Amino acid sequence: MSLLSIEHLAVRFGGVAAVDDVSFEVRQGEILGLIGPNGSGKTTVLNLLSGFLAPRAGQVRLAGQAITGMPPAQLVRRGVLRMFQMTRVFSRMSALDNLLTAGMARGLSEPESGRRARVLVDELTLGPVQYHDAGQLSGGQRKLLEFGMCFIEPPALAMLDEPFAAVHPVMREVMTGFIRSRHAEGATFLLVSHDMPIVVELCQRAVCMNAGRVIAAGDIHAVLKDHQVIEAYLGETHGDEPASLEVPS
Ligand SMILES: Nc1ncnc2c1ncn2[C@@H]1O[C@H](COP(=O)(O)OP(=O)(O)O)[C@@H](O)[C@H]1O
Ligand SMILES: [Mg+2]
Repeated sequence: MSLLSIEHLAVRFGGVAAVDDVSFEVRQGEILGLIGPNGSGKTTVLNLLSGFLAPRAGQVRLAGQAITGMPPAQLVRRGVLRMFQMTRVFSRMSALDNLLTAGMARGLSEPESGRRARVLVDELTLGPVQYHDAGQLSGGQRKLLEFGMCFIEPPALAMLDEPFAAVHPVMREVMTGFIRSRHAEGATFLLVSHDMPIVVELCQRAVCMNAGRVIAAGDIHAVLKDHQVIEAYLGETHGDEPASLEVPS
């Protein structure tokens, strides 16, 4: 069943069609990978879907209801949440207080927020730093904290933008474990990532973008074998990207 349906979405920055006639669907309960070379429009799609940017054309529906152009706060109330490529936490507040604040912002009582925050602190291995200012945490720990803030009240759809980039492998394991356990409980994810082995491990389906357009969508292995996808990655100026397509099938 389709949870989020995206039809003919488009936005331009000056002369650049950053997102150009993009259509795809996110199914209830899946982890959908959104892949593509740098600059292909993935973050812009997340900005459009999370209300940080208004589309110039197109329709977005959540469980059949139009949510196109809704502001972030309204989307959060409907459970549509996104995590940023650069984390956004309150840096002068403790990690635990960040979680409490996130819970209360989502309408939980203080005791309930506190209860869930303590469970998440353990699950995300943030115990030793829970009273540290979030600004003093490592990049990976801040990402873990953001996962906790996102999931203190289970979202309808969690959108993740490069969560594994520049994160220590140990924390990457905590993140993938967290995603897997929430997925097993029925959570739906839209996962933007350059890390092909992790995408293959977590996602059954993927959408690949290039130059603002969808060039392939469907079964992850079929998408990675698609010649347009391979060409898009080989054409990228970063020399190390093509190798990341070599994944065990
Ligand atoms: N706020 C912005 N202003 C102008 N151009 C932008 C802006 N955001 C993104 N772009 C451009 O839109 C295109 C897609 O960018 P982005 O969505 O960040 O790609 P990706 O996340 O796939 O790397 C790029 O050409 C980028 O330079
Ligand atoms: Mg990006």
